[in-house]
Amino acid sequence: MRQDDVGRDVEGLSRLEPMISERAARYIRDNFKEGAVVCLSGAGISVESGIPAFRGEGGLWEKYDPDIYANAEGLTGLLRRQPAKLADFIAGFYTLLIKARPTPAHQALAALERQGILRAVITQNIDNLHQQAGSRNVVELHGNAFRVRCPGCLKKITLEKERIKEMTELLKRNNSYARMLRIFSRYFPRCECGGRFRTDIVLFRELLPQEELALAYRYLDTCRLLLLVGTSLTVIPASGLPLYAKKNGSQLLEINQEETQFSQFCDLSLKGKADEILPEILDVLGYA
Ligand code: OAD
Repeated sequence: MRQDDVGRDVEGLSRLEPMISERAARYIRDNFKEGAVVCLSGAGISVESGIPAFRGEGGLWEKYDPDIYANAEGLTGLLRRQPAKLADFIAGFYTLLIKARPTPAHQALAALERQGILRAVITQNIDNLHQQAGSRNVVELHGNAFRVRCPGCLKKITLEKERIKEMTELLKRNNSYARMLRIFSRYFPRCECGGRFRTDIVLFRELLPQEELALAYRYLDTCRLLLLVGTSLTVIPASGLPLYAKKNGSQLLEINQEETQFSQFCDLSLKGKADEILPEILDVLGYA
């Protein structure tokens, strides 16, 4: 397909008509081959779970300045100067994450993996929803909010939801600097190597986990079709992955509610909700 096919598949369709035109269905049947597909996902895939995306209307960065809330120094400064604000942010964010359940989009990707078509999901999300839906090969470029990691020896520990709930409840009632420090030292204890565990979320200006990034490139070396689902592709190095895949001969299929700066490079761009389009793709392939 050519550049000028972008977005055409959904234009002019009424709400009752399927999101996927016959032409797009043919493209899907021709390109969703065994072991050929990899997905790169972003915050948009989890919006229907109740977790807002980062950018755009209602996005997290509209309410919270990422230079403070997604940055180690910003967060430390906030703890010192406005601890109650930090307590609110952590409690609010984890309440959403704990409540969230996988959407039909997460489930459709897990089903494609079970069918042997999808090799892996490379995700920028930290919400663990791909794994909850049953995806097994998940590459987490930005870490996982339900884990802590020791910066010294890189040991990782999964935090049970109940334990996180306990921490958020404590933070809601104890939001002074001294009390919050005590809470953090309880839930982020010392590692046996002497380091102090911290969240396994990759913050701004931090290095991505190198072994995950290397694994992502390995999947892209051999993939024939890369799905770009619910991501604005504005954050490096994830934003470089589609062009890397394309240079290696992969096709690009974008599923997004809006046009992105990458739409023009995609072989097919389906505009709409991932929760509706991905289950329809399963239907087209006869797996629904
Ligand atoms: P963004 O918030 O930048 O983009 C979300 C994308 O999802 C947008 O392009 C929306 O149009 C689209 N979208 C929203 N709802 C959708 C739906 N139901 N179906 C399909 N598409 C939908 O999120 P990311 O691209 O994931 O990094 O952001 C990348 C990184 O920026 C995040 O991992 C995070 C952030 O700063 C760190 O925190 C390190």
